[in-house]
Amino acid sequence: MSVFLGIDIGTSGTKAVVIDPQGNVRGEALQEYPCYTPRPLWSEQNPEHWWQATLETIRQAVAGAGVEPAEVRGIGLSGQMHGSVFLDREHQVIRPAILWNDQRTAEECAEIEQRAGGREALIKLVANPALTGFTAPKILWLRKHEPEHYARVQHVLLPKDYIRFRLTGELATDVSDASGTLLLDVARRTWSRELLQRLELPPEWFPRCYESHEVTGTLRPEVAAELGLRPETPVVAGAGDCAAGAVGNGIVRSGVLSTSIGTSGVMFVHCDQVVIDPRGRVHTFCHAVAGKWHMMGVNLCAGGSLQWFRNQLCQALAAECRGSGTDPYQLLGAEAAQVPPGAQGLVFLPYLSGERTPHADPQARGAFVGLTLAHTRGHLVRAIMEGVTFALRDSLEILRRLDVPVEEIRVSGGGSKSPLWRQIQADVFGQDVVRLAAEQGPAYGVALLAAVGCGQYDSIEQACDATIQVAEHIRHDPQAAAVYNRVFATYRALYPSLKEHFAALGGG
Ligand code: XUL
Repeated sequence: MSVFLGIDIGTSGTKAVVIDPQGNVRGEALQEYPCYTPRPLWSEQNPEHWWQATLETIRQAVAGAGVEPAEVRGIGLSGQMHGSVFLDREHQVIRPAILWNDQRTAEECAEIEQRAGGREALIKLVANPALTGFTAPKILWLRKHEPEHYARVQHVLLPKDYIRFRLTGELATDVSDASGTLLLDVARRTWSRELLQRLELPPEWFPRCYESHEVTGTLRPEVAAELGLRPETPVVAGAGDCAAGAVGNGIVRSGVLSTSIGTSGVMFVHCDQVVIDPRGRVHTFCHAVAGKWHMMGVNLCAGGSLQWFRNQLCQALAAECRGSGTDPYQLLGAEAAQVPPGAQGLVFLPYLSGERTPHADPQARGAFVGLTLAHTRGHLVRAIMEGVTFALRDSLEILRRLDVPVEEIRVSGGGSKSPLWRQIQADVFGQDVVRLAAEQGPAYGVALLAAVGCGQYDSIEQACDATIQVAEHIRHDPQAAAVYNRVFATYRALYPSLKEHFAALGGG
Protein backbone atom coordinates (compact mmCIF):
# COMPACT_ATOMS: atom_id res chain seq x y z
CA MET A 1 0.00 0.00 0.00
CA SER A 2 1.22 3.52 -0.59
CA VAL A 3 0.49 6.20 2.02
CA PHE A 4 0.95 9.94 2.40
CA LEU A 5 2.48 11.72 5.37
CA GLY A 6 1.42 15.13 6.71
CA ILE A 7 3.48 16.98 9.34
CA ASP A 8 2.30 20.05 11.26
CA ILE A 9 4.86 22.07 13.23
CA GLY A 10 2.40 23.49 15.79
CA THR A 11 3.02 25.82 18.71
CA SER A 12 2.38 23.26 21.44
CA GLY A 13 3.82 20.32 19.49
CA THR A 14 4.43 18.61 16.17
CA LYS A 15 1.82 16.24 14.77
CA ALA A 16 2.37 13.67 12.03
CA VAL A 17 -0.48 11.90 10.24
CA VAL A 18 -0.33 8.98 7.81
CA ILE A 19 -3.28 8.58 5.42
CA ASP A 20 -4.08 5.98 2.80
CA PRO A 21 -5.01 7.00 -0.78
CA GLN A 22 -8.73 7.07 0.21
CA GLY A 23 -7.98 9.61 2.93
CA ASN A 24 -8.39 7.26 5.92
CA VAL A 25 -6.08 8.03 8.84
CA ARG A 26 -3.78 5.02 9.38
CA GLY A 27 -1.42 6.41 11.97
CA GLU A 28 -0.74 9.58 13.91
CA ALA A 29 1.65 10.89 16.54
CA LEU A 30 2.15 14.05 18.56
CA GLN A 31 5.21 15.31 20.38
CA GLU A 32 5.12 18.42 22.53
CA TYR A 33 7.86 21.00 23.18
CA PRO A 34 8.17 24.15 25.25
CA CYS A 35 7.49 27.74 24.29
CA TYR A 36 9.74 30.32 25.97
CA THR A 37 8.74 33.75 27.31
CA PRO A 38 12.12 35.38 28.08
CA ARG A 39 10.25 38.66 28.68
CA PRO A 40 6.55 39.51 29.05
CA LEU A 41 4.82 39.44 25.64
CA TRP A 42 7.73 37.62 23.98
CA SER A 43 7.26 34.12 22.58
CA GLU A 44 10.11 31.99 21.22
CA GLN A 45 10.95 28.39 20.36
CA ASN A 46 14.05 26.38 19.56
CA PRO A 47 13.87 25.11 15.94
CA GLU A 48 15.97 22.10 16.97
CA HIS A 49 13.00 20.96 19.13
CA TRP A 50 10.77 21.07 16.02
CA TRP A 51 13.29 18.94 14.14
CA GLN A 52 13.64 16.31 16.88
CA ALA A 53 9.82 16.18 17.21
CA THR A 54 9.53 15.81 13.43
CA LEU A 55 11.85 12.78 13.37
CA GLU A 56 10.11 11.18 16.34
CA THR A 57 6.53 11.74 15.13
CA ILE A 58 7.36 10.45 11.63
CA ARG A 59 8.74 7.25 13.16
CA GLN A 60 5.74 6.81 15.48
CA ALA A 61 3.03 7.68 12.93
CA VAL A 62 4.50 5.33 10.30
CA ALA A 63 4.91 2.52 12.83
CA GLY A 64 1.35 3.12 14.10
CA ALA A 65 0.03 2.89 10.53
CA GLY A 66 1.49 -0.60 10.26
CA VAL A 67 3.24 0.21 6.96
CA GLU A 68 6.88 0.06 5.91
CA PRO A 69 8.50 3.53 5.85
CA ALA A 70 9.33 2.90 2.16
CA GLU A 71 5.57 2.85 1.45
CA VAL A 72 5.37 6.61 2.14
CA ARG A 73 4.76 8.05 -1.33
CA GLY A 74 4.79 11.76 -0.52
CA ILE A 75 5.14 14.24 2.35
CA GLY A 76 3.36 17.54 3.04
CA LEU A 77 4.41 20.21 5.55
CA SER A 78 2.29 22.60 7.59
CA GLY A 79 3.16 24.82 10.52
CA GLN A 80 2.42 27.72 12.78
CA MET A 81 2.52 30.82 10.59
CA HIS A 82 4.57 34.05 10.83
CA GLY A 83 7.48 32.62 12.90
CA SER A 84 10.98 33.73 11.96
CA VAL A 85 13.95 31.38 11.70
CA PHE A 86 17.14 33.31 10.96
CA LEU A 87 19.95 31.28 9.30
CA ASP A 88 23.57 32.28 8.68
CA ARG A 89 25.83 31.48 5.70
CA GLU A 90 26.33 27.90 6.94
CA HIS A 91 22.55 27.49 7.41
CA GLN A 92 22.95 27.51 11.19
CA VAL A 93 20.12 28.93 13.32
CA ILE A 94 21.28 32.32 14.67
CA ARG A 95 18.84 32.81 17.59
CA PRO A 96 15.59 31.24 18.82
CA ALA A 97 12.64 31.63 16.44
CA ILE A 98 10.25 34.48 17.27
CA LEU A 99 6.65 33.23 17.07
CA TRP A 100 3.26 34.38 15.76
CA ASN A 101 1.98 35.26 19.25
CA ASP A 102 4.98 37.43 20.16
CA GLN A 103 3.97 41.05 20.74
CA ARG A 104 7.36 42.86 20.85
CA THR A 105 7.17 44.63 17.48
CA ALA A 106 4.66 47.51 17.85
CA GLU A 107 7.35 50.10 16.94
CA GLU A 108 8.52 48.12 13.92
CA CYS A 109 4.92 47.86 12.65
CA ALA A 110 4.71 51.66 12.74
CA GLU A 111 8.07 51.88 10.92
CA ILE A 112 6.87 49.51 8.19
CA GLU A 113 3.71 51.56 7.60
CA GLN A 114 5.75 54.73 7.41
CA ARG A 115 8.36 53.26 4.99
CA ALA A 116 5.56 51.84 2.81
CA GLY A 117 4.05 55.31 2.47
CA GLY A 118 1.21 54.82 4.97
CA ARG A 119 -1.20 52.11 6.01
CA GLU A 120 -3.28 52.25 2.81
CA ALA A 121 -0.18 52.09 0.61
CA LEU A 122 1.05 49.06 2.58
CA ILE A 123 -2.31 47.28 2.17
CA LYS A 124 -2.09 47.97 -1.58
CA LEU A 125 1.37 46.35 -1.74
CA VAL A 126 0.83 43.24 0.40
CA ALA A 127 -2.97 43.12 1.01
CA ASN A 128 -2.59 43.45 4.80
CA PRO A 129 -1.59 45.96 7.47
CA ALA A 130 1.47 45.47 9.69
CA LEU A 131 0.54 43.36 12.72
CA THR A 132 2.85 42.53 15.61
CA GLY A 133 2.67 38.77 14.99
CA PHE A 134 3.74 38.92 11.32
CA THR A 135 7.29 38.12 10.14
CA ALA A 136 8.51 41.38 8.57
CA PRO A 137 8.35 43.43 11.79
CA LYS A 138 10.40 40.70 13.52
CA ILE A 139 13.20 41.14 10.96
CA LEU A 140 13.23 44.89 11.56
CA TRP A 141 13.26 44.25 15.31
CA LEU A 142 16.37 42.09 14.89
CA ARG A 143 18.04 44.82 12.85
CA LYS A 144 17.41 47.39 15.59
CA HIS A 145 17.88 45.33 18.76
CA GLU A 146 20.34 42.56 17.87
CA PRO A 147 22.56 44.07 15.16
CA GLU A 148 25.25 41.41 15.73
CA HIS A 149 22.71 38.70 14.86
CA TYR A 150 21.25 40.71 11.99
CA ALA A 151 24.70 41.07 10.42
CA ARG A 152 24.93 37.25 10.10
CA VAL A 153 21.50 36.69 8.49
CA GLN A 154 21.55 35.07 5.03
CA HIS A 155 18.15 33.35 5.01
CA VAL A 156 14.79 33.95 6.72
CA LEU A 157 12.53 30.90 6.90
CA LEU A 158 9.07 30.12 8.28
CA PRO A 159 8.86 27.25 10.82
CA LYS A 160 7.72 24.50 8.46
CA ASP A 161 10.22 25.68 5.82
CA TYR A 162 13.09 25.22 8.25
CA ILE A 163 11.91 21.62 8.67
CA ARG A 164 11.77 21.33 4.86
CA PHE A 165 15.38 22.48 4.76
CA ARG A 166 16.39 19.85 7.32
CA LEU A 167 14.44 17.15 5.42
CA THR A 168 15.41 18.01 1.85
CA GLY A 169 18.20 20.60 1.86
CA GLU A 170 15.94 22.90 -0.21
CA LEU A 171 15.16 26.50 0.70
CA ALA A 172 11.54 26.95 -0.33
CA THR A 173 8.15 28.11 0.89
CA ASP A 174 4.53 28.15 -0.27
CA VAL A 175 2.30 31.11 -1.11
CA SER A 176 -0.15 30.68 1.80
CA ASP A 177 2.52 30.73 4.51
CA ALA A 178 4.54 33.41 2.69
CA SER A 179 1.42 35.65 2.76
CA GLY A 180 1.80 35.92 6.55
CA THR A 181 5.29 37.41 6.30
CA LEU A 182 3.80 40.73 5.10
CA LEU A 183 6.39 40.63 2.29
CA LEU A 184 4.36 38.81 -0.37
CA ASP A 185 2.48 40.61 -3.12
CA VAL A 186 -0.57 38.49 -2.30
CA ALA A 187 -2.51 39.43 -5.45
CA ARG A 188 0.42 38.36 -7.72
CA ARG A 189 1.59 35.47 -5.51
CA THR A 190 5.21 36.59 -5.56
CA TRP A 191 7.57 38.45 -3.17
CA SER A 192 6.95 42.20 -3.17
CA ARG A 193 10.17 43.64 -4.60
CA GLU A 194 8.85 47.10 -3.84
CA LEU A 195 8.23 46.54 -0.14
CA LEU A 196 11.53 44.66 0.25
CA GLN A 197 13.28 47.66 -1.27
CA ARG A 198 11.44 50.13 0.95
CA LEU A 199 12.36 48.10 4.03
CA GLU A 200 15.95 47.64 2.76
CA LEU A 201 15.73 43.85 3.02
CA PRO A 202 17.75 41.75 0.53
CA PRO A 203 15.37 39.72 -1.73
CA GLU A 204 17.84 36.79 -1.72
CA TRP A 205 17.09 36.15 1.95
CA PHE A 206 13.64 34.83 1.00
CA PRO A 207 13.24 31.39 -0.55
CA ARG A 208 11.49 30.47 -3.77
CA CYS A 209 7.69 30.49 -3.44
CA TYR A 210 5.62 27.53 -4.72
CA GLU A 211 1.93 26.70 -4.94
CA SER A 212 1.02 24.38 -2.06
CA HIS A 213 0.70 21.09 -3.98
CA GLU A 214 3.95 21.55 -5.95
CA VAL A 215 6.95 19.36 -5.19
CA THR A 216 9.86 21.37 -3.76
CA GLY A 217 12.40 18.55 -3.47
CA THR A 218 13.17 15.07 -2.22
CA LEU A 219 14.70 13.77 1.01
CA ARG A 220 18.38 14.17 1.88
CA PRO A 221 19.91 10.68 1.61
CA GLU A 222 21.05 10.69 5.26
CA VAL A 223 17.57 11.67 6.53
CA ALA A 224 15.93 9.04 4.33
CA ALA A 225 18.37 6.43 5.66
CA GLU A 226 17.73 7.44 9.29
CA LEU A 227 13.96 7.13 8.87
CA GLY A 228 13.92 4.22 6.42
CA LEU A 229 12.07 6.38 3.86
CA ARG A 230 12.91 6.32 0.14
CA PRO A 231 15.37 9.15 -0.72
CA GLU A 232 13.27 9.98 -3.80
CA THR A 233 10.17 10.67 -1.62
CA PRO A 234 8.77 14.03 -2.82
CA VAL A 235 8.04 16.80 -0.31
CA VAL A 236 5.33 19.21 -1.47
CA ALA A 237 5.31 22.91 -0.59
CA GLY A 238 2.44 22.51 1.91
CA ALA A 239 0.74 25.42 3.66
CA GLY A 240 0.50 27.60 6.74
CA ASP A 241 -1.59 25.87 9.41
CA CYS A 242 -4.74 27.94 8.78
CA ALA A 243 -4.86 27.16 5.03
CA ALA A 244 -3.80 23.55 5.67
CA GLY A 245 -6.53 23.13 8.31
CA ALA A 246 -9.02 24.63 5.86
CA VAL A 247 -8.06 22.04 3.21
CA GLY A 248 -8.64 19.39 5.91
CA ASN A 249 -12.13 20.90 6.39
CA GLY A 250 -12.79 21.05 2.64
CA ILE A 251 -12.86 24.87 2.49
CA VAL A 252 -11.83 24.87 -1.18
CA ARG A 253 -14.83 26.46 -2.91
CA SER A 254 -16.47 29.86 -2.89
CA GLY A 255 -19.29 30.18 -0.33
CA VAL A 256 -17.85 27.67 2.14
CA LEU A 257 -16.47 29.05 5.39
CA SER A 258 -15.05 27.45 8.51
CA THR A 259 -14.69 28.42 12.12
CA SER A 260 -12.01 26.81 14.21
CA ILE A 261 -11.98 27.14 18.00
CA GLY A 262 -8.57 26.02 19.24
CA THR A 263 -6.26 28.11 21.44
CA SER A 264 -6.95 30.83 18.89
CA GLY A 265 -10.18 31.23 16.94
CA VAL A 266 -10.12 31.41 13.16
CA MET A 267 -12.89 32.35 10.75
CA PHE A 268 -11.70 31.25 7.28
CA VAL A 269 -13.33 31.67 3.88
CA HIS A 270 -12.25 30.60 0.39
CA CYS A 271 -12.22 33.31 -2.32
CA ASP A 272 -11.98 32.77 -6.09
CA GLN A 273 -10.75 36.35 -6.49
CA VAL A 274 -8.54 38.46 -4.33
CA VAL A 275 -10.76 40.58 -2.02
CA ILE A 276 -9.09 43.05 0.34
CA ASP A 277 -10.60 44.74 3.37
CA PRO A 278 -9.47 48.36 2.79
CA ARG A 279 -9.43 48.79 6.59
CA GLY A 280 -7.21 45.73 7.04
CA ARG A 281 -9.37 44.18 9.79
CA VAL A 282 -9.41 40.68 8.25
CA HIS A 283 -6.40 39.15 6.48
CA THR A 284 -6.26 38.35 2.76
CA PHE A 285 -3.77 35.56 2.07
CA CYS A 286 -3.09 33.16 -0.83
CA HIS A 287 -4.94 29.88 -0.36
CA ALA A 288 -3.41 26.41 -0.57
CA VAL A 289 -5.68 25.91 -3.62
CA ALA A 290 -3.61 26.94 -6.65
CA GLY A 291 -4.52 30.40 -7.94
CA LYS A 292 -7.10 31.07 -5.18
CA TRP A 293 -7.13 33.19 -2.04
CA HIS A 294 -8.67 33.16 1.39
CA MET A 295 -9.70 35.72 3.93
CA MET A 296 -9.58 35.13 7.65
CA GLY A 297 -10.11 36.74 10.99
CA VAL A 298 -7.99 35.54 13.92
CA ASN A 299 -8.94 35.81 17.60
CA LEU A 300 -5.90 35.24 19.75
CA CYS A 301 -7.64 33.69 22.78
CA ALA A 302 -10.71 31.59 21.90
CA GLY A 303 -10.61 28.08 23.38
CA GLY A 304 -7.71 29.58 25.33
CA SER A 305 -10.24 31.63 27.34
CA LEU A 306 -12.14 28.54 28.52
CA GLN A 307 -8.85 26.74 29.17
CA TRP A 308 -7.72 29.68 31.33
CA PHE A 309 -11.06 29.53 33.24
CA ARG A 310 -10.74 25.79 33.81
CA ASN A 311 -7.10 26.01 34.91
CA GLN A 312 -7.44 29.01 37.21
CA LEU A 313 -10.95 28.77 38.63
CA CYS A 314 -12.00 25.12 38.47
CA GLN A 315 -9.12 23.32 40.17
CA ALA A 316 -11.37 21.29 42.51
CA LEU A 317 -13.55 20.23 39.59
CA ALA A 318 -10.48 19.30 37.52
CA ALA A 319 -9.14 17.19 40.43
CA GLU A 320 -12.48 15.36 40.79
CA CYS A 321 -12.52 14.70 37.06
CA ARG A 322 -9.00 13.31 37.12
CA GLY A 323 -10.19 10.85 39.77
CA SER A 324 -13.28 9.75 37.89
CA GLY A 325 -11.86 9.96 34.35
CA THR A 326 -14.48 12.53 33.23
CA ASP A 327 -13.77 15.52 31.02
CA PRO A 328 -14.03 18.80 32.98
CA TYR A 329 -15.09 20.62 29.81
CA GLN A 330 -18.09 18.29 29.55
CA LEU A 331 -19.20 19.09 33.10
CA LEU A 332 -18.70 22.81 32.57
CA GLY A 333 -20.65 22.56 29.29
CA ALA A 334 -23.53 20.81 31.10
CA GLU A 335 -23.67 23.65 33.67
CA ALA A 336 -23.64 26.26 30.88
CA ALA A 337 -26.43 24.44 29.04
CA GLN A 338 -28.76 25.14 32.03
CA VAL A 339 -28.34 28.90 31.44
CA PRO A 340 -30.47 30.68 28.81
CA PRO A 341 -28.91 32.40 25.73
CA GLY A 342 -27.42 35.73 26.71
CA ALA A 343 -26.27 34.35 30.11
CA GLN A 344 -28.80 36.59 31.87
CA GLY A 345 -27.02 39.83 31.21
CA LEU A 346 -23.42 38.62 31.54
CA VAL A 347 -21.02 39.45 28.69
CA PHE A 348 -17.41 38.24 28.29
CA LEU A 349 -14.70 39.95 26.21
CA PRO A 350 -12.15 37.26 25.21
CA TYR A 351 -9.12 39.55 24.76
CA LEU A 352 -6.89 37.75 27.28
CA SER A 353 -3.85 37.88 24.94
CA GLY A 354 -4.65 41.24 23.35
CA GLU A 355 -6.63 40.91 20.12
CA ARG A 356 -5.97 40.73 16.41
CA THR A 357 -9.32 40.75 14.51
CA PRO A 358 -10.94 43.23 14.35
CA HIS A 359 -9.14 45.49 16.85
CA ALA A 360 -5.43 44.78 16.17
CA ASP A 361 -4.68 45.87 19.74
CA PRO A 362 -1.99 44.14 21.81
CA GLN A 363 -3.24 46.11 24.84
CA ALA A 364 -6.84 44.83 24.71
CA ARG A 365 -7.74 42.77 27.81
CA GLY A 366 -10.36 40.23 28.86
CA ALA A 367 -13.42 41.23 30.91
CA PHE A 368 -16.66 39.94 32.41
CA VAL A 369 -19.23 42.74 32.29
CA GLY A 370 -22.60 42.64 34.06
CA LEU A 371 -21.87 40.27 36.97
CA THR A 372 -24.52 39.96 39.69
CA LEU A 373 -24.90 37.74 42.75
CA ALA A 374 -27.38 35.65 40.75
CA HIS A 375 -24.71 34.47 38.31
CA THR A 376 -23.32 30.94 38.71
CA ARG A 377 -20.31 29.16 37.28
CA GLY A 378 -22.57 27.97 34.47
CA HIS A 379 -23.30 31.61 33.57
CA LEU A 380 -19.58 32.39 33.43
CA VAL A 381 -18.88 29.40 31.18
CA ARG A 382 -21.80 30.24 28.89
CA ALA A 383 -20.68 33.89 28.73
CA ILE A 384 -17.16 32.75 27.72
CA MET A 385 -18.54 30.52 24.94
CA GLU A 386 -20.80 33.33 23.75
CA GLY A 387 -18.08 36.01 23.95
CA VAL A 388 -15.64 33.91 21.91
CA THR A 389 -18.39 33.31 19.35
CA PHE A 390 -19.16 37.07 19.23
CA ALA A 391 -15.46 37.61 18.44
CA LEU A 392 -15.82 35.18 15.50
CA ARG A 393 -19.02 36.97 14.45
CA ASP A 394 -17.05 40.23 14.29
CA SER A 395 -15.05 38.63 11.43
CA LEU A 396 -18.20 37.19 9.84
CA GLU A 397 -19.86 40.62 9.77
CA ILE A 398 -16.82 42.14 8.04
CA LEU A 399 -16.85 39.35 5.42
CA ARG A 400 -20.60 39.73 4.86
CA ARG A 401 -20.17 43.48 4.38
CA LEU A 402 -17.39 42.88 1.85
CA ASP A 403 -19.96 40.78 -0.08
CA VAL A 404 -17.97 37.57 0.36
CA PRO A 405 -20.53 34.76 -0.20
CA VAL A 406 -21.22 32.76 2.98
CA GLU A 407 -23.44 29.79 2.12
CA GLU A 408 -22.16 27.08 4.42
CA ILE A 409 -20.36 27.38 7.76
CA ARG A 410 -18.36 24.35 8.94
CA VAL A 411 -17.50 24.41 12.63
CA SER A 412 -14.27 22.78 13.80
CA GLY A 413 -11.54 22.77 16.44
CA GLY A 414 -11.57 21.51 20.04
CA GLY A 415 -14.27 24.04 21.08
CA SER A 416 -16.68 22.76 18.44
CA LYS A 417 -16.57 19.29 19.99
CA SER A 418 -19.06 20.71 22.52
CA PRO A 419 -22.66 20.37 21.21
CA LEU A 420 -23.58 23.49 23.19
CA TRP A 421 -20.80 25.55 21.59
CA ARG A 422 -21.89 24.32 18.14
CA GLN A 423 -25.46 25.45 18.85
CA ILE A 424 -24.23 28.80 20.20
CA GLN A 425 -22.30 29.28 16.94
CA ALA A 426 -25.42 28.62 14.80
CA ASP A 427 -27.49 30.98 16.97
CA VAL A 428 -24.90 33.77 17.22
CA PHE A 429 -24.23 33.64 13.47
CA GLY A 430 -28.00 33.46 12.80
CA GLN A 431 -27.27 30.75 10.23
CA ASP A 432 -27.26 26.93 10.26
CA VAL A 433 -23.81 25.36 10.65
CA VAL A 434 -22.46 21.90 9.81
CA ARG A 435 -20.06 19.50 11.49
CA LEU A 436 -17.79 17.16 9.55
CA ALA A 437 -17.68 13.39 10.06
CA ALA A 438 -13.99 13.38 10.90
CA GLU A 439 -11.90 16.37 11.72
CA GLN A 440 -8.21 16.08 11.23
CA GLY A 441 -6.63 19.53 11.12
CA PRO A 442 -3.57 20.89 9.31
CA ALA A 443 -1.45 17.69 9.20
CA TYR A 444 -4.31 15.92 7.43
CA GLY A 445 -4.73 18.87 5.02
CA VAL A 446 -1.09 18.72 3.91
CA ALA A 447 -1.18 14.92 3.61
CA LEU A 448 -3.99 15.53 1.09
CA LEU A 449 -1.82 18.15 -0.66
CA ALA A 450 0.95 15.54 -0.90
CA ALA A 451 -1.56 13.12 -2.46
CA VAL A 452 -2.41 15.79 -5.05
CA GLY A 453 1.26 16.59 -5.68
CA CYS A 454 1.99 12.89 -6.25
CA GLY A 455 -0.85 12.54 -8.78
CA GLN A 456 -3.22 10.50 -6.57
CA TYR A 457 -5.86 13.20 -7.19
CA ASP A 458 -6.14 15.67 -10.07
CA SER A 459 -6.87 18.64 -7.84
CA ILE A 460 -7.32 19.67 -4.21
CA GLU A 461 -11.05 20.05 -4.81
CA GLN A 462 -11.20 16.46 -6.04
CA ALA A 463 -9.17 15.21 -3.06
CA CYS A 464 -11.52 17.00 -0.62
CA ASP A 465 -14.68 15.74 -2.39
CA ALA A 466 -13.38 12.18 -2.16
CA THR A 467 -12.41 12.30 1.52
CA ILE A 468 -14.45 14.85 3.51
CA GLN A 469 -18.08 14.30 4.57
CA VAL A 470 -20.60 16.40 6.45
CA ALA A 471 -21.96 14.50 9.50
CA GLU A 472 -24.50 16.86 11.07
CA HIS A 473 -26.52 19.98 10.28
CA ILE A 474 -27.15 22.22 13.27
CA ARG A 475 -30.22 24.43 12.78
CA HIS A 476 -30.17 27.89 14.24
CA ASP A 477 -32.98 28.84 16.61
CA PRO A 478 -34.49 32.18 15.47
CA GLN A 479 -35.52 33.10 19.03
CA ALA A 480 -32.02 32.58 20.42
CA ALA A 481 -30.60 34.38 17.36
CA ALA A 482 -32.78 37.43 18.17
CA VAL A 483 -31.48 37.47 21.76
CA TYR A 484 -27.89 37.21 20.49
CA ASN A 485 -28.40 40.07 18.03
CA ARG A 486 -29.23 42.31 20.98
CA VAL A 487 -26.36 41.07 23.16
CA PHE A 488 -23.91 41.32 20.24
CA ALA A 489 -24.73 45.04 19.93
CA THR A 490 -23.71 45.48 23.60
CA TYR A 491 -20.62 43.29 23.11
CA ARG A 492 -19.49 45.50 20.23
CA ALA A 493 -20.00 48.69 22.18
CA LEU A 494 -17.88 47.48 25.11
CA TYR A 495 -14.42 47.42 23.47
CA PRO A 496 -14.51 51.04 22.26
CA SER A 497 -15.62 52.23 25.70
CA LEU A 498 -12.95 50.20 27.53
CA LYS A 499 -10.06 50.60 25.04
CA GLU A 500 -8.50 53.58 26.73
CA HIS A 501 -8.78 51.94 30.17
CA PHE A 502 -7.13 48.76 28.90
CA ALA A 503 -4.21 50.87 27.71
CA ALA A 504 -4.03 52.63 31.09
CA LEU A 505 -3.95 49.28 32.92
CA GLY A 506 -0.99 48.26 30.74
CA GLY A 507 0.59 44.84 30.95
CA GLY A 508 -0.06 44.62 34.71
C1 XUL B 1 -2.60 32.81 11.86
C2 XUL B 1 -1.95 32.71 13.19
C3 XUL B 1 -2.07 31.47 13.99
C4 XUL B 1 -0.81 30.67 13.83
C5 XUL B 1 -0.75 29.61 14.92
O1 XUL B 1 -2.52 34.05 11.29
O2 XUL B 1 -1.29 33.60 13.65
O3 XUL B 1 -3.21 30.73 13.69
O4 XUL B 1 -0.69 30.20 12.53
O5 XUL B 1 -0.82 28.38 14.61
